[in-house]
Amino acid sequence: MLRDAHGLEVTAANRAAVDSFDQTLISYLAFANDIGLRLKDTLTHDPDFALAHCFKGYLFLLMGAKALVPRAAKELALAQAQLARTTPRERLHVKALEAWCMLDLQGATNAWEAAARDHPLDVLAVKMLHYTHFYMGDSQNLRDSVGRVWPAWHDKLPAYGYMLSMRAFGLEETGDYDQALSLGSRAHDINPNDAWAVHAVAHVYEMRDQRPEGLAWLEQCMAGGGTQWHNFRYHLRWHQALVLHEMQHYDKVLALYDSAVFNPQSDEYLDLANDTSLLLRLEMAGINVGSRWESLAEKIKLRIDEHLLTFVDAHFMMPLATCAPDHANQFLASINAYMDTAEDTYAGVSQSVARDLCAAVRSYQAGQFDACVEALEPVRSLVHLIGGSHAQRDVFAEMLIEAAVRSGRLPLARSLLFERVSARPRNVRAWNRLAYVLRQLGDVDGAIRAAQGANGAV
Ligand SMILES: [Fe+2]
Repeated sequence: MLRDAHGLEVTAANRAAVDSFDQTLISYLAFANDIGLRLKDTLTHDPDFALAHCFKGYLFLLMGAKALVPRAAKELALAQAQLARTTPRERLHVKALEAWCMLDLQGATNAWEAAARDHPLDVLAVKMLHYTHFYMGDSQNLRDSVGRVWPAWHDKLPAYGYMLSMRAFGLEETGDYDQALSLGSRAHDINPNDAWAVHAVAHVYEMRDQRPEGLAWLEQCMAGGGTQWHNFRYHLRWHQALVLHEMQHYDKVLALYDSAVFNPQSDEYLDLANDTSLLLRLEMAGINVGSRWESLAEKIKLRIDEHLLTFVDAHFMMPLATCAPDHANQFLASINAYMDTAEDTYAGVSQSVARDLCAAVRSYQAGQFDACVEALEPVRSLVHLIGGSHAQRDVFAEMLIEAAVRSGRLPLARSLLFERVSARPRNVRAWNRLAYVLRQLGDVDGAIRAAQGANGAV
């Protein structure tokens, strides 16, 4: 029996295949742009490599496109054909892929949790858990799935630095910013090419509203253009744009959107989520984004019946509601029909929150601010169930505030903004918006204090 770089038993034909797969996983952990080439090399060394076929299936599903589900199922069949000679750990990966091909994220998660429990050095299982806990809105398990294997890891293991960056991000999403910053920085020191380390630290600065530090960090890490990374580099640029947005440098945000965030050739869901949420944030700040919605709407019109991740569909609604209202209506009808008939993870989250969230987005972009508040306010505490990060979901928090302001529900807007500045006392735009709302309510002293808050005096 062969063993991988972390000492785990692997069913493969030869040493070269195992070594190549180790390299493939390191590329995956780093978000490197050579994952596909390395995996191809692995399967050339051993076309019957069950775990490599599982991983290839994962990659297809990670793309978040319905058209790729059959290709993942094909990889599943190739892995299943080798099942009799695989190890119990590998069989858990096959089981995870089987569940995921059925769009059962919880079933896949259970299988990876079992693999990580029995084999704490199974970095692939831990990384996949990072994905599912993230997209099931479970930040506690995003952190603790790493914690449950952490004592087995040490700095002599090849993927140790990448484990550090995963631990850092889980800590960030659960509000332990000091620890997250420390571990994320260490991870970056160990592997400067670890995009997840860059990302974890960027999130800390974002949540703390440390704008100059966040901008300097991202500019430093992206100095070479980030071309060693795959499309995730666009998400790092999105973070850079978010900082500029908080600084109210809207011309720079638009310039960065055009030059480094928006990729006309890309249909990847994360790219589309970056693009749509940035445009909506700009519009909410009163910035005219011109015709930029239209090319996004054209891409999304073709995908209104996919329903893989509620997080994605909430973003897909933005351009449709802006410039393709008929498609927006069809999209909502499709979500309704899906959640009434399917029994997968997407359907469950749609029933509890995502359907209302998509309806709220449609109303907001249609200028129906009352209807937006009516749909979103009752479910606002459940929005985390759609997954994504705090920073990503923040666009919906801002949307509710703006809908409250624009529908004249000023006490609600005040309450939401009080909450926001309490949680993020250095958030200049929130203080400014609060000052505006308090002036509208006739609270002159409160408005003056809020304006002082924007200047860092509160
Ligand atoms: Fe992010």
